[in-house]
Amino acid sequence: MGTKKTMQVTSKFHIIGTISMIWLLAVAFMLFLRPVILPPVLNLGLEKEEVVIYGPWDNERFAEEGQPNEGELEEEAVKEEAWSYNDSCKFNLVESIPQDLPYISVRSAAQPLIQSWMELLDSAQESVHIASYYWSLTGSDIGTNDSSSQPGEELLAKLETLLARNVSLTVATSDPTLAVNSTDLEVLMSKGAQVRKIPMKYLTHGVLHSKFWIVDMKHVYLGSANMDWRSLTQVKELGVVIYNCSSLAYDLEKTFQTYWVLGIPGATIPKPWPQNYSTNINWHHPLQETFDKMVTTAYFSASPPILCPRGRTKDLEALLSVIWGAEKFLYVSVMEYFPTSRFEHPVKYWPVIDNALREAAFNRHVLIHLLISCGKNSDPSMFPYLKSLQALTNPQTNITIEVKIFIIPVGNHSNIPYSRVSHSKYAVTEKKAYLGTSNWSKDYFTNTAGVGLVINQSSSDPQHSVPTIQDNLKSIFERDWQSPYAVSLEELPGQQDCVWHA
Ligand SMILES: *[C@@H]1O[C@H](CO)[C@@H](O)[C@H](O)[C@H]1NC(C)=O
Ligand SMILES: *[C@@H]1O[C@H](CO)[C@@H](O)[C@H](O)[C@H]1NC(C)=O
Ligand SMILES: *[C@@H]1O[C@H](CO)[C@@H](O)[C@H](O)[C@H]1NC(C)=O
Ligand SMILES: *[C@@H]1O[C@H](CO)[C@@H](O)[C@H](O)[C@H]1NC(C)=O
Ligand SMILES: *[C@@H]1O[C@H](CO)[C@@H](O)[C@H](O)[C@H]1NC(C)=O
Ligand SMILES: *[C@@H]1O[C@H](CO)[C@@H](O)[C@H](O)[C@H]1NC(C)=O
Ligand SMILES: *[C@@H]1O[C@H](CO)[C@@H](O)[C@H](O)[C@H]1NC(C)=O
Ligand SMILES: *[C@@H]1O[C@H](CO)[C@@H](O)[C@H](O)[C@H]1NC(C)=O
Ligand SMILES: *[C@@H]1O[C@H](CO)[C@@H](O)[C@H](O)[C@H]1NC(C)=O
Ligand SMILES: *[C@@H]1O[C@H](CO)[C@@H](O)[C@H](O)[C@H]1NC(C)=O
Repeated sequence: MGTKKTMQVTSKFHIIGTISMIWLLAVAFMLFLRPVILPPVLNLGLEKEEVVIYGPWDNERFAEEGQPNEGELEEEAVKEEAWSYNDSCKFNLVESIPQDLPYISVRSAAQPLIQSWMELLDSAQESVHIASYYWSLTGSDIGTNDSSSQPGEELLAKLETLLARNVSLTVATSDPTLAVNSTDLEVLMSKGAQVRKIPMKYLTHGVLHSKFWIVDMKHVYLGSANMDWRSLTQVKELGVVIYNCSSLAYDLEKTFQTYWVLGIPGATIPKPWPQNYSTNINWHHPLQETFDKMVTTAYFSASPPILCPRGRTKDLEALLSVIWGAEKFLYVSVMEYFPTSRFEHPVKYWPVIDNALREAAFNRHVLIHLLISCGKNSDPSMFPYLKSLQALTNPQTNITIEVKIFIIPVGNHSNIPYSRVSHSKYAVTEKKAYLGTSNWSKDYFTNTAGVGLVINQSSSDPQHSVPTIQDNLKSIFERDWQSPYAVSLEELPGQQDCVWHA
């Protein structure tokens, strides 16, 4: 009996032991083997419920395992090199400066946006593709009678003449729209434009916030400006026009096509995206060419991740890579800055970009200047986060994060709602320029469709060095930073035209 009982007990232990063994093996498999068998999914906090701290220590992991499939695209890369398009890509910054800002003058570093847009449309011979958030090109859309809406109205008329010249116009726009009273798109459709409304709210709980043009599959515009007359005369905007650059135009067109197919009624987001949406121009393999004695590297990023087919660098990765790469300075101009979500309930803390900034300042002594906009409609809850960043500054340890708030005087333009702000969204370092369409808060990188351009140039001819795109962007930033419209956080209380004390 005794022996039998012992045996039973022993076998019970045996069973428990075996189960434990299996369990241990399973755990070991999960911990050690899984990463070998299944390449780890890049975790950038883009998954809904994850909170992850990032840093340059992830950088190497990125570099090795970033987009595991890029290698397979190499063959395709060969036929997409810029030379095969006979490209001569020329990059021009474009900006709009709101009326009545006497201390800010258009520099040669950028061209006026309206002029560049009009010239692009005049040059169009075959097709114009426009990715847009909403349309509001006439003053009457918002019940405003103001002479500053005229350039917008002229732009709409120019688009109509385009259609009359048999140039095709294809527009992707967000649904639902902010501009409920605008008839711009109906007018253009009646003249033959093809328009699709992309139900981003339904598809990703976001909006289509991208703003870019592709003209004749060779010229590109990308920037912060909406198809809104106020973007031409009442809101400060920054963007870039790329001329004679089919390689980048075809690449951005792939992102346009991701929107276009989602505009078909009942469309769902393909998983994965078909092969022909993939790109081989990205962070790990940017376009790299010498144009007009200027060595240029460039690629486009996109958000949200679910709209990034194979090979497309995610917008957040693109931005972080620019921050991580900075060694001397990082100048940022962005409309709003929140290390949180904005449209998600409950609101989530999301210090991904915040941590990258702190690290750059602390570990690498990168000089950081943040120029953030404030207007009548700004949310003052952003200021504590900015103060917190600035509080890290310590001259003894060479840590500098300086914040200034850019306030555009309303003056006699108070009749124009949602204007008189700086809407720019860019960063520039001694190495690279990043131009985007996203505010710097979580939703823009996780739910909202946006695009970014990462670019750097260096002169291949030291004798005749012309300014690079980083030089031009830096000079625009410095002009604004030193202008009387940029005030320190300490000077903020009592400022007119910023919500702070409104
Ligand atoms: C490339 O473009 C230049 C002008 O932009 C033109 O003169 C040249 O003939 C083109 N070359 C080819 C092979 O198409
Ligand atoms: C649209 O028009 C209606 C009726 O004229 C008006 O009440 C509403 O404020 C307008 N909406 C906007 C965004 O201008
Ligand atoms: C707009 O204002 C101008 C003068 O500022 C006036 O002549 C014109 O009649 C106004 N138009 C409308 C539709 O109110
Ligand atoms: C535009 O195309 C239509 C139909 O193909 C043609 O009848 C018309 O003459 C064309 N107009 C111009 C300006 O080329
Ligand atoms: C684009 O290429 C055309 C044809 O080669 C040329 O005439 C034009 O000046 C170029 N545009 C720019 C902005 O360089
Ligand atoms: C990919 O191919 C499909 C089917 O031929 C086509 O409908 C779609 O427009 C293509 N997409 C791109 C980006 O070329
Ligand atoms: C701060 O920077 C200066 C000049 O670059 C350098 O001489 C100094 O050693 C640095 N101090 C610290 C604490 O890193
Ligand atoms: C608005 O103010 C600017 C200067 O700030 C002035 O030049 C302009 O004449 C004013 N316009 C009107 C209609 O008062
Ligand atoms: C531009 O970027 C490339 C690729 O990241 C890098 O190798 C190169 O050093 C950069 N050029 C400059 C001028 O920073
Ligand atoms: C972000 O930018 C858009 C326009 O680009 C603006 O309408 C919006 O209010 C901004 N702020 C937030 C928190 O989304």
